[in-house]
Amino acid sequence: MTAPKKLFIKTYGCQMNVYDSERMAESLTGQGYVATDTAEDADMILLNTCHIREKAAEKVYSELGRLKPLKTAKPDLKIGVAGCVAQAEGAEIMRRQPAVDLVVGPQSYHRLPQMEARVRDGQKALDTDFPEEDKFEHLQGRPKARRAPAAFLTVQEGCDKFCAFCVVPYTRGAEVSRPVERVLGEARDLVERGVREITLLGQNVNAYHGAGPGGDYSLARLIWALNEIDGLERIRFTTSHPNDMDDDLIAAHRDCPKLMPYLHLPVQSGSDRILKRMNRSHTAESYLRLVECIRAARPDLVLSGDFIVGFPEETEADFQATLDLIEAVGYGYAYSFKYSTRPGTPAAERPQVDAAEADERLQRIQALITRQQRSVQDGMVGREVSVLVEKPGRHEGQMVGKSEYLHAVHLDGSNAAVGDIVSARITAAKANSLAGAPV
Ligand code: SAH
Ligand code: SF4
Ligand code: F3S
Repeated sequence: MTAPKKLFIKTYGCQMNVYDSERMAESLTGQGYVATDTAEDADMILLNTCHIREKAAEKVYSELGRLKPLKTAKPDLKIGVAGCVAQAEGAEIMRRQPAVDLVVGPQSYHRLPQMEARVRDGQKALDTDFPEEDKFEHLQGRPKARRAPAAFLTVQEGCDKFCAFCVVPYTRGAEVSRPVERVLGEARDLVERGVREITLLGQNVNAYHGAGPGGDYSLARLIWALNEIDGLERIRFTTSHPNDMDDDLIAAHRDCPKLMPYLHLPVQSGSDRILKRMNRSHTAESYLRLVECIRAARPDLVLSGDFIVGFPEETEADFQATLDLIEAVGYGYAYSFKYSTRPGTPAAERPQVDAAEADERLQRIQALITRQQRSVQDGMVGREVSVLVEKPGRHEGQMVGKSEYLHAVHLDGSNAAVGDIVSARITAAKANSLAGAPV
């Protein structure tokens, strides 16, 4: 028997890439690969890349530069680039970095086994198609390995919204929803392997409309179907667009026992002038009204958001409107980014905000967000939460997990096992986590 080949995958970008990396690893087990977590050991290195901001893509090229000597030392090593940079740059990657053997886009990675055979043969392999066949249905032969208690499950991919700053509609293509039975089947399989919490993924997950028994399923209906699966205890979904938050989904946050009280609902800006230029098709006011409805349904829900500062033509007054919106909402988490010009997107052609100005705004928004996150965390002290235990902590007798609000909780003096869901009283708020005692 030949020794297994070793596969090292490094993942950049969003949670969907984390999911995709797992699928790619599984698809290569048939070629005799096992995972390794050191690049130096590997027979194949795959970078699963992100193209969302300029820095994300540049990071990939510098990583490839660092990997090149490994290939000089071990000529049999194969290097591949997957994900959204692969989709956007295609063959340009091999021109810029000749050490790269394989380039595969996010919609064609089910063809990796054939591509691997080609590169083993000394050829280069490139596939950035949006194939007719469904990649999810071609990922057969998944090993039945035990899984960590929290898992991702992609239910929807691509985006038809075309926000003026965003590459996702180009790198991931048009919106596609997976059929209900496939999602339920994959969820049951995950549960059999030890998963207790599933986060449903989609670039625009709440626009989900999958074919199911008796017609089209909305995301809310899908969540209710998942709620029936024994052994699955927690359901989350991300990322949502404000315009696709329908009444059923809001009601599910009130009525569905397994749906967790946490929602990532990016708004991007608090200025209607900028929102319009971003092609966001909602206003600051409609967003605030929506937040009110969601909180009426589930008062303790923790909200998170994304913000872009320094979008073309953003004035100080526009930026102030964003700060005002953040103050009005009270986010438990928020992610803010300096606008990054993405070639081929409409906003790239517009008058850009001075870089120093944008930097200064980024610092101000981040200071506000940090204060707000801190105050939400402080508000947890004294409360009883439920914690899904994910791993042992640093000290003896400490376990680490996630609360229903997605806060990391360090449990001291716990005899809980990985995968248990335990009650805990929050005793203190730290910079990035909470401390809790079992009750
Ligand atoms: N709906 C998506 C959002 C993808 S991008 C999802 O499922 O994740 C994540 C965030 O990156 C966006 O919400 C936006 O705030 C930010 N972003 C996207 N394009 C950007 C750009 N060109 N410059 C800066 N930030 C950007
Ligand atoms: Fe990008 Fe907008 Fe689609 Fe989100 S909704 S993926 S930000 S185009
Ligand atoms: Fe990045 Fe592609 Fe995700 S651009 S954010 S990896 S969809």
